[in-house]
Amino acid sequence: MIRKQAITQIEDLEWHSVEEIPGLRYKFLIDSDVTSSRGLSLGALEVAPGAILPPHHHSPQEIYLFHSGEGEVILGDEIHQVRAGTAVFIPEHCWHGLINKGDQPLAFYWIFPTDSWSEIEYIYDKSSAK
Ligand code: NI
Repeated sequence: MIRKQAITQIEDLEWHSVEEIPGLRYKFLIDSDVTSSRGLSLGALEVAPGAILPPHHHSPQEIYLFHSGEGEVILGDEIHQVRAGTAVFIPEHCWHGLINKGDQPLAFYWIFPTDSWSEIEYIYDKSSAK
């Protein structure tokens, strides 16, 4: 199979939002739903001041790389401060979430070892924790 190259520019991409979670918006930079890529995917998420990305887990591992703002990440049973330059490795099925306690958007990139974000099954329910 021929692997095609892909290049995107963040400001050219449209924001998406989550109806059930106010204060979040995201873009897909490298994702098989928008680029001719596979095996890896990259997106950008912004959390508004005071907003929360609720704790969840999923079967693929994930990386967060923060580039703007300040906040707290929930990782397993720990809470850590995050800011520009913080990288977080999230193992398979590890609980994680975010709180923006600053007065600026908390912005980061996510990376999944999957073709696309849309194939990730998000689990928010504690009762189904593995
Ligand atoms: Ni996640």
